[in-house]
Amino acid sequence: MINFKNVIAEKIAKQIDMSKEQIEEYIEIPSNKEMGDYSFTCFKLAKELKKSPQIIATELKESLSFEENEISKIEVVNGYLNFFICKPVLIKEVFKEIDIKKENYGSSKLGEGKNVVIDYSSPNIAKPFHIGHLRSTVIGNSLYKIHKFLGYNCIGINHLGDYGTQFGKLIEGYKRWGNEYNIEENPIDELTKIYVRINELCKEDESVLEECRNNFKKLEDGDEECVLLWTKFKDLSLKEFQRIYDLLDIHFDSFNGEAFYSDKMPEVVKILEKTGRLVESEGARVIELGEQMPPCLIEKTNGSTTYATRDLAAILYRARTYDFDKALYLTSYEQILHFKQVFEVAKLLDIDEKYTKNLVHVPFGMVQLKSGKMSTREGNIIKLEDLLNESISRVKSIMETKNPDLEDKDKIAEIIGIGAVIFNDLYNSRVKDEIFDWDEMLNFNGETGPYLQYIYVRTNSILKKAGYIPKIEEIDYEQLNDKGAIDIIKLLYRFEDTIKQSTEKYEPYIISRYLIELAQAFSSYYNNNKIITDNKKEQDARLYLTYSVNIVLNSGANLLGMKMPERM
Ligand code: ARG
Repeated sequence: MINFKNVIAEKIAKQIDMSKEQIEEYIEIPSNKEMGDYSFTCFKLAKELKKSPQIIATELKESLSFEENEISKIEVVNGYLNFFICKPVLIKEVFKEIDIKKENYGSSKLGEGKNVVIDYSSPNIAKPFHIGHLRSTVIGNSLYKIHKFLGYNCIGINHLGDYGTQFGKLIEGYKRWGNEYNIEENPIDELTKIYVRINELCKEDESVLEECRNNFKKLEDGDEECVLLWTKFKDLSLKEFQRIYDLLDIHFDSFNGEAFYSDKMPEVVKILEKTGRLVESEGARVIELGEQMPPCLIEKTNGSTTYATRDLAAILYRARTYDFDKALYLTSYEQILHFKQVFEVAKLLDIDEKYTKNLVHVPFGMVQLKSGKMSTREGNIIKLEDLLNESISRVKSIMETKNPDLEDKDKIAEIIGIGAVIFNDLYNSRVKDEIFDWDEMLNFNGETGPYLQYIYVRTNSILKKAGYIPKIEEIDYEQLNDKGAIDIIKLLYRFEDTIKQSTEKYEPYIISRYLIELAQAFSSYYNNNKIITDNKKEQDARLYLTYSVNIVLNSGANLLGMKMPERM
């Protein structure tokens, strides 16, 4: 596709002494559509050229010429140079590209040959997979898909919380009362009960706590019984987590959690020792990080390792194994300090700067219920599986009234219910706290997942009714020369750029907002224009527009991790 911004910048660059890249930075898409498709500001040049912006703009306008008819009009307004793209050229460009790439429209080879490690979801074994992990899972999965669409080689890692002193406690509790609990049937709930009970006992009896610590030590040293129990807890928990991943249709390339690094930590400690920066502090060993940050705890007083040490070992391992160009970590903003410390200490490891420079923590806000808090650290935990199932059943009852005769109702309710939760999670900038409100997220006319799906289904039924997709050679672009159609075309044109922006900022919401805009634009076009008409020329052009929207809504939703129903 022609990159119009590029074309304009190239022409301007020939006239003034400034790089094409610099010029591109001064070119914007005006929010007021009357002001053209692209706008170049001359204000930043005024000082250097010692002329008023208005004069610069006027002179530039005179000197520019576009042979290919790409630009139909240039206007000078208050020191801005406004460019109007020739609409038939634009339509032709977009349609041609869609015709060639089909469902891959918007994809690129930008990331070819580059490896991106994405560390996401990462729940803790024997603890509930709560709504706090939902965000990590959903945002991480979307970033994975977006990067992949841009040609990156992605490695999705579920860095399970399957290690640490709490497992010593769990083992102790299970040894004492295991037969009272049905952990096969209901692993996470039962293990949580055991954990709470043993914690109580530890508080009363110091010697029990000592036993727990011993168990963890034994686990680290490979004691058979302890390893066996730990494996059992882990397998049972994973089985329960897997039900959620199945519902969300999310897959990982690796489940190497914290325990995986247990034999890889001594190397980290050794490297850190050699730097001379590992110092004693109140019996523990830490790396001091100056005034800006508290020290990073590497080894506890009893010699056992920490969450941070395991993350350091993981960095070393991932650099060597995946040779990553970028490593992303998805957690709530509660862990900002942790990653700051770890990334700082990582600079002391024996790895190239190209790795340590490209460690990125991608934090997100907490989830709040419309009424009251839904924090992960506090008592009222909502389990994600329950939440997803509730969404599905709410959709089912909405559908019972809206479309009771729908075939395959269960499957469709699942697609809509899950899609609603995912979309709701991705509709705002990730750093914002998320408000969880059933009525809002399931509103079929709101800015929601179900709305997107509904418009998509609309495009589907139009295409089905027509029974064919027109050949682009036969399309008369003049048929789409009205504002409603042009608005859609411009949005379609922006799709690839939208995906790129969302990758640069690690923000799927840029795509979500875009999709809503596209769906709304199509909906109003559809309300004002008949697609299937008696005029074949008109119908073909409008049908191809519908087909294009259909493709982009579907692939856009897939990039968010949503599915589209064929009917609803
Ligand atoms: N298990 C951790 C938690 O639930 C998240 C792990 C994030 N990844 C990492 N490499 N530290 O808070």
